[in-house]
This record gives sequence, structure tokens and C-alpha cells, in this order.
Amino acid sequence: AAPLLPLNDGKSIPSVGFGTYPMKDQQLETAVQAALLTGYRLIDTAASYENETNVGNALQASSVERKDIFLSTKLRGSDQGYDAALRGLDASLQRLNVEYVDLYLIHWPLPAKDLYVESWKAMIAAQKDGKIRSIGVSNFKPAHLERLLQETGVVPVVNQIEIHADFPQNEQRAFNARHNILTQGWSPLGKGLMDNPTITQLAEKHNRNPAQIMLRWATQLQIIPLPKSGNPDRMRANLDIFDFTLDADDMAAIAKLDTNNRLGGDPDTHEEF
Ligand code: A2P
Repeated sequence: AAPLLPLNDGKSIPSVGFGTYPMKDQQLETAVQAALLTGYRLIDTAASYENETNVGNALQASSVERKDIFLSTKLRGSDQGYDAALRGLDASLQRLNVEYVDLYLIHWPLPAKDLYVESWKAMIAAQKDGKIRSIGVSNFKPAHLERLLQETGVVPVVNQIEIHADFPQNEQRAFNARHNILTQGWSPLGKGLMDNPTITQLAEKHNRNPAQIMLRWATQLQIIPLPKSGNPDRMRANLDIFDFTLDADDMAAIAKLDTNNRLGGDPDTHEEF
């Protein structure tokens, strides 16, 4: 299993997680069970993935105890707002068939709706009620985070953002770190990086596969990567990254791959439902 990292609220989180998008149905139930058997303890889902029921079924079927699993889900855009967020959370808990989630994130800030501060206040209340252990955000830029801090004083434990070797988001990560917010990375393998020469040369040097190089790079930068795989061998490989180290030259070579290559939505304009 992946070592734990401390959160700013005193709890801790596994340093690698299992991403579930866009899997669903039986394929996902099988995959989550395999991931738990392989040693994943952080499972990342979202209301908008429409797969929470499948995640819940897989948790029920697994012999891993609830208390040993770090379950994370996200508030969808159409549920933003104070009352709507409370209802959205309850619906997620019901679909996941659990009493609480370990982590609940605002999925996207949706600044045009201007409801993320109200949503955040609802999450603070739900945390006090015991329905959520830790609260965080996803796809937040510094301006969005500043508003949460100014208007509530409650700092998110994580900010889950798009991260891969050609989109390392150095400034956003530095901002997160200054505020004691851990960065989680979605799409940690990027696109087309598996046969990038820098990555394949490092893979040869360390006798690892390219995915392991990219995930190890992320963890050495204190990023919690959330690789998704439906294949048990690749799941295992993606977790098997704690017995080798990229040296300073290796890290510098990967740093040169930054081309600001965003693949997903820009948080200022992205719409999500
Ligand atoms: P598969 O599910 O067949 O393993 P990301 O985590 O960046 O969203 O990337 C997920 C994609 O990368 C999936 O298509 C997944 O396919 C593939 N993938 C995951 N792990 C590996 C790996 N170790 N080597 C090659 N491809 C991988």
C-alpha cells in the first residue's frame, strides 16, 4: 500500500489513489475490488461520474474494512449552493451506501454560478455532522481559493487538479503548498507521454515502465496521483513505485517537459453539470 501523507486537519491520506473515471457498471465493480486487493486504499469518485453505486457495491463486496478505506467523492455542479450541496452529499452517501466519506470535494468552482462559497459553508456544516471527515476542492485556481479563505477561514485539505509531466502546474502547486493544501493530480499519465523519449529513457535507466516513472515523479513532488486502470497488472505497477527514486537530474529532465499542455477544462470557464 502507498505511504500516508498528513492533511492540514490532522487526518492522513494515502499518497496514491485509484481513479475511477470513466469506468462504471460491472467493469468498475470488478476494477475497484481488484484495486483493493492490490493494495489501493484511496478510491476517488464523483457524483458526476455516475458510478457511485458501483463503487459502493465494490466496497460492500470487498473484505477490506470500511475504516481502512479512504473514500473520496465530489459535489457536482448542478448541486452547488448551500441546501443543494447538503442534498447532493446525502444522495452520494446513499449511492455509496456509507455513513460518511473520508473526503468530499467541490468538483469545479464554476465561478459564473458564484455558488462555491455557499457550497463550502454547507460542507463545513456536514463535516461537523460527521458525514464528511475532510473537505477539499478540485480544479480551484488561486482566486477561488482566496475567496474560500477570506469568507470562511476554512482551508481545504486538498486541491485536486489536472497534472501530468507536460502540465505540472508549478505555480498552482506552489500556491497550494503555501497554504498547506495537498495537491492531488488527475490524468497523471497525460496523453502521448508513454513514448516520450525523456520518459522512456528514464524507464530504461530505472528498469521500470513509463507510467511508473510519471507516477514516481508526481509522488516525489508531493502530488497524490490518481491513476485509473481497469487492468490488474497495470494497477499493481502503478502502485509499485515506492522502492526506487528519481534523482535530481531525472527530476530536472522531466521538469523540461512542461509545455503547459492542459488537456481538460480551464477552471475559470469549464461548465460541469
Ligand atoms: P487501462 O485501464 O487499460 O489500464 P489517467 O490515469 O491519466 O486517466 O490514464 C488512464 C489511462 O491510462 C487508461 O486508458 C489506462 O488504460 C491507461 N493506463 C493506466 N495505467 C497504465 C500503465 N501502467 N501503463 C499503460 N497504460 C496505463
